[in-house]
Amino acid sequence: MTWRNTPDNFGLVTRLLHWLMAIGILFLLALGTRLAGMQPGLANLWLYGLHKSIGLCLLALVVIRLVWHRISPPPSPIGDPRALSQRLARWGHALIYILLLAIPLSGWIASSASGIDTVLFETWTVPRIAPVSAAWENAGWAAHGLLTKLLMAVLLVHVAAALKRQMDGDGTLRRMWSGGN
Ligand code: HEM
Ligand code: HEM
Repeated sequence: MTWRNTPDNFGLVTRLLHWLMAIGILFLLALGTRLAGMQPGLANLWLYGLHKSIGLCLLALVVIRLVWHRISPPPSPIGDPRALSQRLARWGHALIYILLLAIPLSGWIASSASGIDTVLFETWTVPRIAPVSAAWENAGWAAHGLLTKLLMAVLLVHVAAALKRQMDGDGTLRRMWSGGN
């Protein structure tokens, strides 16, 4: 078992980050959708705090993941790198990374613009990254809503593609799950 990625396989660090973040993102997509339909009040304020705190942790994790991939590049999708499906897989992964940066940033911008402090797990007040302003707040929430819908659509295709490759038996899912062993 190796920590680092190799030209053919995902190492332990990338695999742990992938599955930890997948669980976190699915949880936040569900929780965020619930929050969007709620009226904020004293009884549910902790749910907003939980969503924001996990979202900021995921932002930190995606930065760590991208830095790790500079240090230890992940393998290319299995198969001919010039084939359309392989190119689509690479573009799809790049789009997921862009969304995983843009979504928490838009939430952080909108929360900052609302003037309400964002407190990480009720202990540390994170800095504001946008001026307190209704225009910034509305734009931030609009972007957060839109980008999360786009992420849901891209992830549906991502999971369907992974399951299809599993059924074809090309080892793609196995190397993300167990490093190809
Ligand atoms: C990867 C990280 C994140 C994901 C996947 C995510 C996902 C979502 C989703 C799906 C919604 C519902 C949007 C809608 O239907 O309009 C939502 C709402 C919300 N998000 Fe996030 N979010 C993330 C990060 C953050 C961060 C970092 C913050 C703030 C610091 C934040 C604050 C909020 C708030 C306050 C709402 C409720 C907005 C409302 O009441 O309409 N989110 N989120
Ligand atoms: C739900 C949140 C998920 C996110 C955000 C996500 C994101 C990603 C990203 C960014 C990569 C590219 C890794 C790289 O090479 O840099 C990847 C690879 C992969 N993901 Fe996911 N993923 C998620 C869920 C899943 C699920 C549920 C499955 C399984 C059904 C899955 C199966 C895979 C596989 C097999 C690969 C490797 C693809 C290859 O070798 O080309 N992912 N994922």
